[in-house]
Order: sequence, then C-alpha cells, then structure tokens
Amino acid sequence: MKKISKAVFPVAGLGTRFLPATKAIPKEMLPIIDKPLIEYAVEEAVLAGIEEIIFITSHTKRSIEDHFDKNLELEDKLLKSGNKEAIQKINRDIFQNVKFTYVRQKFQKGLGDAILQASHLIEDEYFAILLADDLIVNNPSATQQLINVAKETNSSVIGLNKVPKENISKYGVISFADSSKNEKLFHLNGIIEKPKSNPPSDMAVFGRYILSHHIFDYLENLEPGVAGEIQLTDAIKHMLNDHDINGYLYDGTKFDCGSKEGYVQAITYLASNMIFK
Ligand code: G1P
Repeated sequence: MKKISKAVFPVAGLGTRFLPATKAIPKEMLPIIDKPLIEYAVEEAVLAGIEEIIFITSHTKRSIEDHFDKNLELEDKLLKSGNKEAIQKINRDIFQNVKFTYVRQKFQKGLGDAILQASHLIEDEYFAILLADDLIVNNPSATQQLINVAKETNSSVIGLNKVPKENISKYGVISFADSSKNEKLFHLNGIIEKPKSNPPSDMAVFGRYILSHHIFDYLENLEPGVAGEIQLTDAIKHMLNDHDINGYLYDGTKFDCGSKEGYVQAITYLASNMIFK
C-alpha cells in the first residue's frame, strides 16, 4: 500500500449546539484549555505521517485558515521580546512541512457531500478522514492505529467504539462477520446510519476512517439519507458490495466534543491529567 499521506477534515458544520459561542467563531476553534479543538486532530494526523491536510470548509470558517497560517506581526513582536516559547506555540515545528489545503463546501448537504468535495485532490490511494469533534487521547493515536491496520489488511478501515444501547442511535452502526482472530478487528458486512430501532450491533463508527479512493465512486450520485443529508455511511454500505472494509475497535479515551457534556469532559480529563503541559 502506498503511504497514506492525505487527510480530509470536514469542518463546514454550523455548530448550532454551541450557540451563542459559535455565532462568530467556528466550533472547531473553541479552546480545549489553550489549543483549539481542531489542532488536536491535526496534530494527531501529522504525527501519524499525514503530509497534506484538506479542510472542507465554508465562508464562516476563515479563522481556521488563519490559525494554520503564519501571523508575522505577532511572531515579530514575540521575537523582539525574546519569547521563544510562545513563538513555538504559534509556529509549531511539526506543522512546518505540512500542506494545508482548503475546499469550500457551498451547501451543507451532509458528511458524504463534504468528503466528495475532496475527490479531485485524492489520487489512486488510501486517505484518512478525521472528524475533529471526536477527540481521542491515546499513544499511538487513533489515526496511527487505523493506518497500521489498513496496511496490515490492505483494506479500508473504520474506527469503532462500543456504545451502550441507549446511545447507539446517534451513530453509524456496523454489522460484521464473526471470523477474525483479532478481537478488535471486524470484517464489515453492513452499516447503517443512526438506526432508530434494532441496531445491528453495539459497534459505532467514531470519528476516524481510512478509506480507499473508491469511496468517491459511491458518493457521486448518492441519494440523501438520514436527515435528508448525503451520508458517508450510505456510500460505505454500497462500497461493501465490491470492496473489503474492516472496522477496528481502536484504543483511546474518547470525547464527543460536538456535545457540551463531551466538551466539558475532554477539558476536565486533559486538565486533570495535565496533558496540555
Ligand atoms: C457522523 C457520522 C456517524 C458517526 C459520527 C461519529 O455523525 O455520520 O456515522 O458515527 O459522526 O463519528 P454526526 O455526529 O456528524 O451526526
């Protein structure tokens, strides 16, 4: 398998659950202590070897572009005052050779439509998708674990989390063939977005994917699904007819920062473990 070097970050969502905080700033820029939420996932991708970050963005998300760009005026001031530590924080070494690409999603038509906007930037290769709302703390990171499994199995791999019955309808849920020797690896034979009843398992899709470029064949001309949106889950379901896809129950402490509860829990966890230090 060719090196997995590109990651798509869908960040065009409106963040209505965090109003009024997200009236003028994107939800991805909300701080988790001293770093915006988005930086945790970008850092995770880059440390896993990703060289190009493709943001699927919208006109209200300009501050994300600014955040990953240089701020020469600020840098100059910090340089003159000799504050090297602060310069390192706004101009991080690990991001120096990363290419940041921005694609505008004109209409909010769902996660599947957002990913489709990156089709012209992905060649004949596997690529990562990170949903930055889902903050996962682990070393090796969730993305690194999935890349390892994709290489080992030579297949697309979806990150999974075991979710209790009462919450499963909030997620994409997989069904699988029970044949793997590795108890964390599941060979998918079905997937459904936010099942209202009779979920096929307790294995939910959680925030990280490694997919082959073939996904775009199934995203094109896809009919709207749950909530009238073009669902990535539906494209994965169709792709299963022709391609092997695995799910991997990756290790990590997971926070759904798209909800207020998850956001507060993430901050509390990182603060109490001094992970931000
Ligand atoms: C999206 C996906 C869903 C997945 C979830 C968490 O839903 O559509 O399949 O389980 O992210 O990663 P959303 O939370 O955007 O409604």
